[in-house]
Amino acid sequence: MNRASTASPALTGRELAQSFGERSVLDGVDLTLDCGEVLAVVGMSGSGKSTLLYALAGLRQPEGGTVAWGGHADVWSLREPEITLVRRSTCGFVFQFPAFLDDLTVAANVAVPLVVSGDKPRDARERARQLLDRFGLSPLAEDFPSTLSGGELQRASIARALVMDPSIIFCDEPTGALDESNSELVVSELLRVAAEFGAGVLIVTHDPSVWVKCDRVLRLDEGKLIEERAA
Ligand SMILES: Nc1ncnc2c1ncn2[C@@H]1O[C@H](COP(=O)(O)OP(=O)(O)OP(=O)(O)O)[C@@H](O)[C@H]1O
Ligand SMILES: [Mg+2]
Repeated sequence: MNRASTASPALTGRELAQSFGERSVLDGVDLTLDCGEVLAVVGMSGSGKSTLLYALAGLRQPEGGTVAWGGHADVWSLREPEITLVRRSTCGFVFQFPAFLDDLTVAANVAVPLVVSGDKPRDARERARQLLDRFGLSPLAEDFPSTLSGGELQRASIARALVMDPSIIFCDEPTGALDESNSELVVSELLRVAAEFGAGVLIVTHDPSVWVKCDRVLRLDEGKLIEERAA
């Protein structure tokens, strides 16, 4: 997808606010993520990065502000089950410790979101295998997750994040549990996801070797989001 041709951003957060006790963790935060853009959010431990990601991803409602995903203007005005259904078709997730179902093969794990959404298991499995192939994991598709390395599992979790063709990928410390070479591999795959699939990728990270590769870097500090490095 060509970024310049995209009419609306993949993700917009406006005036996001969240306090815990006396402390304002998000103090009127604005953020825009374009389709095909890879954006890093950095900041000290406890600065509120995960709180921000959960608010933007429709996972935990902030006290104030609005979130838009492409054509969905006000995500937090949706109720269950709509918000879950829209999230499932719009957002992919890559977390520090990817959770897999141990008694399903890697391909079956990647296929789960499709099956849950009503696809035939055979079709879902085929789509999963195609995605795993793009991440160099074909030989491991029929293995069980417990036999994969941390880096392999993280690449499989990127494949799983893409299986519903999401327009936004949310990543919370995706390289936090990986060594340097696996970390580099995962970041290059995320950059490829933005370039080839046109998804907006938001990466929360404290790892400078990750954020140097991102299109733009924002720093969360005392509830405010500051541009650390522009595009
Ligand atoms: N449900 C909650 N109740 C009370 N305080 C919370 C809650 N969730 C988060 N906090 C506090 O809000 C602050 C921000 O937390 P958050 O997890 O967003 O930080 P973070 O930047 O992701 O940190 P890290 O880099 O360590 O993952 C922390 O001080 C945390 O203790
Ligand atoms: Mg966090």
